[in-house]
Amino acid sequence: MFHNGFILIVDDNPTNLSVLSEALSSEGLRFRVAIDGESAIAQAERNRPELILLDVQMPGINGFETCRRLKANPLTKHIPVIFTTALSDIESKTKGFFLGAVDYIPKPFAQEEVIARVRVHLRLKQLTESLEQQVRDRTVALQKTQVQLIQQEKLSTLGELIAGIAHEMNNPISFISSNIPPLDEYIAAISKILELYAKEYTHPTAKIKNAMEELDLQFILEDMPKILNSLKVGAERIQTLSNSLRTFCRSDSDIRIPGDLHQGLDSTLMILQHRLKDNGDRPGIEVIKNYGNLPEVNCYLGQINQVFMNILANAIDAIDEAIAQGTISNSTPQIQITTEIDAQQMAIIRIADNGGGIPESVQQRLFEPLFTTKPVGKGTGLGLSIAHQIVVEKHNGILEVDSQSGMGTEFKIAIPISS
Ligand SMILES: Nc1ncnc2c1ncn2[C@@H]1O[C@H](COP(=O)(O)OP(=O)(O)OP(=O)(O)O)[C@@H](O)[C@H]1O
Ligand SMILES: [Mg+2]
Repeated sequence: MFHNGFILIVDDNPTNLSVLSEALSSEGLRFRVAIDGESAIAQAERNRPELILLDVQMPGINGFETCRRLKANPLTKHIPVIFTTALSDIESKTKGFFLGAVDYIPKPFAQEEVIARVRVHLRLKQLTESLEQQVRDRTVALQKTQVQLIQQEKLSTLGELIAGIAHEMNNPISFISSNIPPLDEYIAAISKILELYAKEYTHPTAKIKNAMEELDLQFILEDMPKILNSLKVGAERIQTLSNSLRTFCRSDSDIRIPGDLHQGLDSTLMILQHRLKDNGDRPGIEVIKNYGNLPEVNCYLGQINQVFMNILANAIDAIDEAIAQGTISNSTPQIQITTEIDAQQMAIIRIADNGGGIPESVQQRLFEPLFTTKPVGKGTGLGLSIAHQIVVEKHNGILEVDSQSGMGTEFKIAIPISS
């Protein structure tokens, strides 16, 4: 019925002991013996028995007190206790149950009864344990599903919103950028005509002369091309941003498609640009890219981008925090991104920061859903568990961390190139 388990018999009477031990041995059940309450408690604490057969009347602390102490002790409270008693009055029986016993066996013992009751309670204990295990397994599974749901929710609402905005931005930006070249030409033409006027009519009327001086026409003519140029640069930037946004949330179909991870990294960096810049509290974060030669990787690029986003956002948070605490005040805040293919045909992406690092105790819980060290409202503790799910479960990849407190952190993502 059990592998290494045993039953603890607690009785001070040699005759009772021998009857009980014979009954158990005849069924092949292993047992140990304690002859008083104190030693029973000590034994039960050391080697948890499956079941305790407990005599009520003993020298020293009696069975009731022994039971009370066993039930008060977190180490022993789950061990079922069966009283063995010659007391047959209702009061003693109910007292035993009240103290947490699961059953009682009257003395003198009938061997069959002892065996039957012991079997029932061993079985009950086993069932309870397997139920508890099932509840634990289900809870883990539920938690996983919950993270998955949140991730999908996050992805789809955020993704749709961003893709929608990026799309809507496109039209107005193209009005601006497509109208800049003709405007440029018109302005050049008008300037030329003004120049020609000035040449042909060297003595303008006083009215025109005044108006020209008031306007500072010369300055305007020189400044206009510069303004146009900044409009052009601005429009181009918005266009790049809009493209990055669309790459970033490239809608995820149900099938994997070959994706350019470098493009994914770049679009993610572009979206995080505002957080990388000098922000008054710290200088800008230097991003060093050591991109290797990566072929296209068969993946859900939208989701992989979300992984990059979560890891990069954490790196920025870590740097911000290290700077706030003054731990990297004398070196440049830095994020290094390195990519390569390894011998197993995996695309490897390493993202390293020189923030405060991750202490050992935190590393063990890093990928747990809802685990965060950030203040309420700042972190939800989902970033890395989502990243883990995407890399490991969705892509059969590997997500590892290498960090030492005070030495910065490196996350390594490995994605099979074709799968
Ligand atoms: N680069 C890093 N440097 C130092 N600590 C880190 C780094 N990345 C993650 N951590 C630690 O791991 C914890 C969990 O990270 P995770 O991204 O899962 O959640 P979070 O950032 O706290 O919240 P969010 O759900 O908003 O991402 C963080 O709270 C932080 O303590
Ligand atoms: Mg995070």
